[in-house]
Amino acid sequence: MKVRHLRGVVAIENQTSGHPWSLRLFESELRQTNSRCFVAMAPHSVVVGFGCLLTTGFETHVTNIAVAPQFQRHGIGQQLLCRLVDESIALGLQEVTLEVRATNASASRLYERFGFVEEGVRPKYYADTGEDAIIMWLRGLLEPEVQARLASLREK
Ligand SMILES: CC(C)(COP(=O)(O)OP(=O)(O)OC[C@H]1O[C@@H](n2cnc3c(N)ncnc32)[C@H](O)[C@@H]1OP(=O)(O)O)[C@@H](O)C(=O)NCCC(=O)NCCS
Repeated sequence: MKVRHLRGVVAIENQTSGHPWSLRLFESELRQTNSRCFVAMAPHSVVVGFGCLLTTGFETHVTNIAVAPQFQRHGIGQQLLCRLVDESIALGLQEVTLEVRATNASASRLYERFGFVEEGVRPKYYADTGEDAIIMWLRGLLEPEVQARLASLREK
């Protein structure tokens, strides 16, 4: 993700999030050395999705991922998540975590497909709706079964 992509990124964020990140927040993510953000592009430089990752040095956190509504359910979210997990491996880290709204069935389904499992709940975490956050982890990124699953997800 580069500054030139941010107009498209923010448009998707505003369409898909109940509590959208601002342009300023994305700009600051691009400046952070411990943050990695990626875009999915359609022809003619159209941004159709993005994903952001934060590393603590011990594990990585998927901090945001979204696909433009008209491009959803075409495998773009899956490819973005593959890229974020691959980046975690490239950083030498073996665990990825994220938080998902308890009612966000589509995202939860995507994460479960990768092998993320629920390990905790932050009650009433989301101020806009009072929803719980489900804390999910994908551990052992270098384990053979995790590697095999990732390989098959990259191909699809
Ligand atoms: C979650 C999100 C990024 C998924 O992106 P996507 O490109 O539509 O996902 P994919 O097409 O790669 O789907 C991969 C798998 O995830 C699951 N999935 C994705 N969307 C789903 C839906 N609406 N219902 C059920 N399962 C879904 C399915 O298992 C799907 O595989 P399948 O299509 O072969 O059944 C997208 O729905 C989105 O942007 N949502 C709004 C923002 C958001 O909630 N972000 C997550 C915050 S934690």
